[in-house]
Amino acid sequence: MVLHAVVLAGGDSATSFSFYLPTKVVFGFGSLDALSAEARALSANRPLIVTDRVMVKTGIVEKVTAKLGDVHFEVFDGVEAEPRLEVAEAVADRVRRDTFDAVIGVGGGSAMDMAKVAAAFATNPGPPKQYVGNNLFARRPLPSIMVPTTAGTGAELTVTSMVTVAGHKQWINSPLLLPSVAVVDPELTITMPKSVTAATGLDALSHNTEAYLSDEANVITDAAALEGIKLVSGNLVKAYSDGNDRKAREAMSLGALLGGIALHARMVYGHSIGYTVATRFNLPHGVSCGIPLPYIIARYAEAVAPKMQKLAEAYGVDAGSREPKKLGEAIAQKVKGILAELGVPRSLKELGVKEADLPNLADECLKTYGRTNSPVVFDAEKMNHLYTQMWQGISE
Ligand SMILES: [Fe+2]
Repeated sequence: MVLHAVVLAGGDSATSFSFYLPTKVVFGFGSLDALSAEARALSANRPLIVTDRVMVKTGIVEKVTAKLGDVHFEVFDGVEAEPRLEVAEAVADRVRRDTFDAVIGVGGGSAMDMAKVAAAFATNPGPPKQYVGNNLFARRPLPSIMVPTTAGTGAELTVTSMVTVAGHKQWINSPLLLPSVAVVDPELTITMPKSVTAATGLDALSHNTEAYLSDEANVITDAAALEGIKLVSGNLVKAYSDGNDRKAREAMSLGALLGGIALHARMVYGHSIGYTVATRFNLPHGVSCGIPLPYIIARYAEAVAPKMQKLAEAYGVDAGSREPKKLGEAIAQKVKGILAELGVPRSLKELGVKEADLPNLADECLKTYGRTNSPVVFDAEKMNHLYTQMWQGISE
């Protein structure tokens, strides 16, 4: 059950690979109606709902649980954005205190990440900290259903739950964390505030794009990524401008879902850079990943040269040239245009980063969030140079 890809030289995606994704997807407006049947199919008679207080306050949890009929459920609403290890400990405590037979995650990436680990902590004893790392769960988790309420993280289809430990992002990775079912109903995203639409949509755009640039990309993740990029780059500004644009909302939910499939190729340095600025500036995850995205595309263009034309087509960009560098620059401009429409800073300077801090950020990026799957290998000097470009706002 280990995800594995053979890497070919020259920026082509691997044609020899394995891909494991056992999650059932139920997608579309009104798909929430299927929740009760899906719960029954999993024999979920006493599920724990894992969510956050905003979901409870805005009535979304009620909307979701109303679909469960007479199933007896309990609610854990203690999830916070970018959850700390303490939140994982609290959810572990809750799920182990009673006898639950399933977990239902309702919310964005943080809620779903905590729901995924809750299902695993129910059957795997010991402190959550011992599971930070790769493939550390010995026992199969409880069945789980994810109900995303944003269009961004794709967490409903990934092997990862993120936790913040002592101010740094860390990963709990296991194929056993893949949920049993994802019920993805774009209706739930209609009431998402503008700022959340922007941030989560940029996360989806980053997932699809960075996965496409990864050395671990394969034909399945590429197909998902290219379609995801097309959907998100063509609909994010529409969904942001008019939250009731149902076609745009549907495209965003689908684009985010495809991003979850693409994520199996893992992220490259865009997400790493995002982590270094997110905590310092208290930025939503998606915004922190969106800011470096244009620079990453331009920087990676030559390393993934054979793939750049298709990337440009997915972004709807005509560079007037098939030269990878020019394609990269044209796509970077398109992404900067999207950032501008969403009111997101387009440089680290605009964000408020001090020039003197750049070496520290570059150092943290390499030491804490290194990427063995990045086709561009960075040393300290190259990473410093990239941070300087991002600070100045120039992609070249
Ligand atoms: Fe992300």
